[in-house]
Amino acid sequence: MLVHFVTDEPNKIPAIRAMLEPEHAVESHMLGATDGQALSNGVLVVDADLRKAVPVEQVKVVLRDLGGVSERLFVVQNHLREMIAQAFALGATAVVSRPREIVSKLAQIEVAQRAKKGDIASAPPEVANSAASFSSLFSTIGRGKAITLSDAENATLEVINGVKQNGLNAWLDDVRRYHEGTFQHCLLVTGIAVAFALSIKFPDADVKRLGLAATLHDVGKARIPLAILDKPGRLDASEQEIIGRHPVIGYELLKPMAEISPEILDGVRHHHEYLDGSGYPDGLTAPEISDLVRLLTISDIFAALIEWRSYKPSMSRQNAYKILCNMDGKLEGPLLKAFRSVALSG
Ligand SMILES: [Fe+2]
Ligand SMILES: [Fe+2]
Repeated sequence: MLVHFVTDEPNKIPAIRAMLEPEHAVESHMLGATDGQALSNGVLVVDADLRKAVPVEQVKVVLRDLGGVSERLFVVQNHLREMIAQAFALGATAVVSRPREIVSKLAQIEVAQRAKKGDIASAPPEVANSAASFSSLFSTIGRGKAITLSDAENATLEVINGVKQNGLNAWLDDVRRYHEGTFQHCLLVTGIAVAFALSIKFPDADVKRLGLAATLHDVGKARIPLAILDKPGRLDASEQEIIGRHPVIGYELLKPMAEISPEILDGVRHHHEYLDGSGYPDGLTAPEISDLVRLLTISDIFAALIEWRSYKPSMSRQNAYKILCNMDGKLEGPLLKAFRSVALSG
């Protein structure tokens, strides 16, 4: 993607280039030096001190003539309120607080642009409906509001219908083509868990129970900053610590809901536990880990391995299954064997 980086500080240019290149093409422009030069296509990223009159006037000049540049990101350090207001007054389409957030924002824009080209229009209705339900669950929680059990159950039923009607292969392909980030992950985990439950001939009620646990397993991520959740590449130790809080956050969010069963709460809190005691948050060992959690954990890890991210190709299902099989002592052997046909089918 072409990125026009407009700034009032020349020393910010090498940093932005180091962060975005070679994935994106960066054209840098110093404020005050762009008169008469119309910027066209791509995305505009503005990083300037909008508390000062001169840069504001210079940004206005840049913004006057933008051919085909519909996305305008403004970097506002520390979320200074007055600068955010100024950025939107100038025509920002999004404000990020740290340069690193530009990476995830650009990935979102790329996905949205792909969608606009017609992909979304042809998204199967089961995927579109499920994604809408997951998105409303997460945004409700993100806004600090309570979700209802029926919202989560409806989202689960849509996945069950999708997998039953078109099979897991179509589900995985469609979800990875149309969605990204946490929604994609939750849609994948739920589809895989449902297919797993169907393949081992679970009764309907158990398919729904495992599906619901999968739907809700990562709800705690709704309270983790997107800059960490969608960060490309490796997380540092403090980011890992923050993301590692999501099982407990999810558990605490759902615990007050009387209609959520203890098994679902168990799944939300313990899907990162391993049989050998090396998981988190409670370091449980095999006797303390329920069957539902064991199934959920296998589905979760498999989904995480095969997911599509804009900055890396997705792993093949064969390789993902091999990785699961090499997680000595952490996952249940007989269940992994049963999972083989789900992992490798098609
Ligand atoms: Fe998780
Ligand atoms: Fe997960």
